[in-house]
Amino acid sequence: MRRAIFAAAIAVVAAGAVQAQPPSSGQPAAAPAGDADRGKTLFTRNGCYQCHNYEGQGGAAGPRIAPNPLPFRGFAAYVRAPRGDMPPYTVKVMAEQDLADVYAYLRTRARPRDVSTNPLLSR
Ligand code: HEC
Repeated sequence: MRRAIFAAAIAVVAAGAVQAQPPSSGQPAAAPAGDADRGKTLFTRNGCYQCHNYEGQGGAAGPRIAPNPLPFRGFAAYVRAPRGDMPPYTVKVMAEQDLADVYAYLRTRARPRDVSTNPLLSR
């Protein structure tokens, strides 16, 4: 019995770990058109930067979410109802178009340079 509970706990932790993985690259399906400049303002004004950093590159309190955020539906669903330490953003705080603009901002951030371009790591 105790073993079953333990196994269930592991399964829950493992499921959480999978969801926390950085999203894979690729075009998100049907992301609505967004204004990246406006998204930048919203990203700052709504405090996303405090945890995810100004470029969405990740910070002390939140993971990297740019330049390859989750597909838009998953992204929007997560921001509305996060499962971890992130506060939820309701439609009153951020309208659907606001999310689309922030999404456009994140998608247009620079890609990190490939690690092979780092001379200290390429010996
Ligand atoms: C107080 C810190 C904090 C703030 C503010 C915050 N986040 Fe987060 N966010 C997190 C943390 C921590 C996670 C990792 C999972 C969790 O604990 O919810 C996360 C996860 C996410 C994810 C899922 C990442 C993934 O790939 O699974 C998205 C998308 C996201 N945040 C977007 C945003 C946006 C957009 C805003 C602003 C509207 C925002 N966050 C504001 C802390 C924050």
